[in-house]
Amino acid sequence: MRSLILLVLGIAIGAIAALQVSTAWRQRDAYPRGVMAVMQHHLGALHQAVVAKQCPLAQSALHLDWLQRMAGTIPDALPQYGHDAHFQDFVHRLQGEIRRTQSPLPGTCGALEPRIRAIGGACEACHAEYR
Ligand code: HEC
Repeated sequence: MRSLILLVLGIAIGAIAALQVSTAWRQRDAYPRGVMAVMQHHLGALHQAVVAKQCPLAQSALHLDWLQRMAGTIPDALPQYGHDAHFQDFVHRLQGEIRRTQSPLPGTCGALEPRIRAIGGACEACHAEYR
């Protein structure tokens, strides 16, 4: 009887510990996932604008501003790659593509389209190695 109680207790404690660990994991991932989701949203919005053939300058500028700000937080959101020079190259590549799109800001959807593809390419290049 006593060993049965200990067994049940052991299982219960194990389950609680496992739950705490998985919660900690989710919270640890929340920040990088959030950063990536926000970038995805703004890049997607730019893509939608091109598809809809509606690319007002102010709207493009806003989305690019958000992309640039979020790109700057990637090293902070993924500290495990903080000292990885190759990883930082990918961050700089993305920042460079965004900067080249911010100035001069493409005034037409036709000019914006290849810039969005270049930014998306910079996302993909890093994902191919680190995601
Ligand atoms: C320097 C590297 C790097 C760059 C540049 C980068 N990402 Fe990521 N991205 C990652 C890594 C690493 C993960 C996996 C993160 C994780 O699961 O914790 C990821 C995951 C994601 C995810 C999945 C998030 C989830 O909920 O699992 C999306 C969406 C995403 N990135 C979008 C983008 C977009 C859009 C860009 C470009 C604007 C971009 N990323 C640029 C490294 C990068």
